[in-house]
Amino acid sequence: MILIKKVNDLQRYLDAYADKGYSTGFVPTMGALHAGHLSLAETCKKENDVTVCSIFVNPTQFNDPDDFQKYPVTIENDILLLEQAGCDLLFMPPVTEIYPGGTTHRKHFELGFLETVLEGKFRPGHYQGVCLVVERLLEIVRPHRLYLGQKDYQQCMVINALIRLMGQQEKIQTVICPTLREQDGLAMSSRNMRLNKVEREKAASIYQALLFIQQNSGKKQPVTLKEEARQMLETKGFKVDYVEICEASSLSPIHEWNKNEKAVILIAAFINEIRLIDNMLVEPT
Ligand code: PAJ
Repeated sequence: MILIKKVNDLQRYLDAYADKGYSTGFVPTMGALHAGHLSLAETCKKENDVTVCSIFVNPTQFNDPDDFQKYPVTIENDILLLEQAGCDLLFMPPVTEIYPGGTTHRKHFELGFLETVLEGKFRPGHYQGVCLVVERLLEIVRPHRLYLGQKDYQQCMVINALIRLMGQQEKIQTVICPTLREQDGLAMSSRNMRLNKVEREKAASIYQALLFIQQNSGKKQPVTLKEEARQMLETKGFKVDYVEICEASSLSPIHEWNKNEKAVILIAAFINEIRLIDNMLVEPT
């Protein structure tokens, strides 16, 4: 694995691969890697000649400065893990390589409805920051395939929208990989490292709440299930941002179960200071 910090150096390697006609897959991350991230890299490795991963804690996507300050950094371990996963090029740029003109004047991305709901609503500006960094990374790496986790369901939709805005939908294929979970169902996340023992034990309740809604879908109205799930979480001491059930294709909230339409349940909740998100699909029955 080759470690690269400068855009120019990365592009020299990528140009050489392109000359040989190699296919390139790309896995963008913010580091503090866990098995979920590695599963993306491993899938990428199987499907492409070259696997490029990036580690960049993107300052423009943190709407909460405290969350940015406390974002875990485990760079040495990350390097070892990516090497084992078969990553070829690891791009670890400093902020100045990604934002050479600074971050004060930012381009705006027209994300429409997608940015007004769920994470978009509760984390103002977050998806603008995600688009800013992902557009820049895609322009640098120019991959054939981009690997994303279903764990961040809305982010996948936002990045697909970004790729359409960039006019790159014919050139870049997004591959959405399943959410990897701990034994008790908690979705793996870099932020889990910040949970203490008691918080960690409670954290799997989010998965339980998702399962509860999924298993009762079609039996009770969405509004009732959302309320019951919220109460389950609040009883455990969570502060709930949302429990929502949406059309999987659009993220519009649903009011009735529809036998022909896939749905997605999405939850965001704080356990003390730490905000966790997760989601689960409900296949049409
Ligand atoms: P990060 O949170 O580091 O996640 C990097 C990628 O790993 C994302 O596509 C995310 O959905 C995926 N991922 C996270 N947890 C996962 C899990 N438990 N199972 C499977 N995949 C998982 O998402 C970001 O970084 C950033 O917003 C980024 C896209 C890199 C832009 O800065």
